[in-house]
Amino acid sequence: MNPPVRINPSILAADVGHLYDACRRCEDAGGDEIHIDIMDGVFVPNVSFSPSVVEMARKAVKIPLNVHLMMLRPDQYVDAFCDAGADTLLVHIEAEHDAADTLQRIRDKGVRAGITLNPATTLDAIESVLPLCDEVLFMTVNPGFGGQSFMPEPLTRLAELRKRHPDLALAVDGGLNRTTCKQSRDHGANVFDIGSALFNPKDMAAEIRWLRDALA
Ligand code: DX5
Ligand code: ZN
Repeated sequence: MNPPVRINPSILAADVGHLYDACRRCEDAGGDEIHIDIMDGVFVPNVSFSPSVVEMARKAVKIPLNVHLMMLRPDQYVDAFCDAGADTLLVHIEAEHDAADTLQRIRDKGVRAGITLNPATTLDAIESVLPLCDEVLFMTVNPGFGGQSFMPEPLTRLAELRKRHPDLALAVDGGLNRTTCKQSRDHGANVFDIGSALFNPKDMAAEIRWLRDALA
């Protein structure tokens, strides 16, 4: 499969009292990018990090920052998160914005732009904005919380998109572990955003090595 496998630890699963160290741990363990979940308490029933957490991560590590906006109005925060140091900024197609305009504005900031689909959203919803996307993220849980069970339904859509776009970065996020990572890989995913299954094991580096081997 074409685009390289990327394993991105999600710091939502980290101890919030030690976020700086958690970012360093992800980098030292061989993570490709740090996945940072931003929740506004409106688009999803939870509140998480702010642009200042992205700034902190930017200072902590050299690897890219993959920032996932679970916000009703992501268009109002493009500048804040790009200026804070996001390397990829992902917005939801279900949010209340002109997605094409938001994605274009992200690219104009020199940042990779990504569209995200909730598990129930079909591909026709993103069709018109695909040319503006550097990455497409398929949620494999309903967004809002870490540690939920994997939902396999989006994988059929992911496989269909992979057929049409062999080189596009296709990501999965939510409920990933050894088994569900392999299952997603078999359907064409190449980016894996993983919280609990990387932070729970004692040795994150060994877990990333295991996954890299299994997903190659
Ligand atoms: C869920 C977030 C995920 C979360 C995944 O709303 O978007 O990135 O951190 O956590 P796990 O891997 O524990 O399901
Ligand atoms: Zn996420």
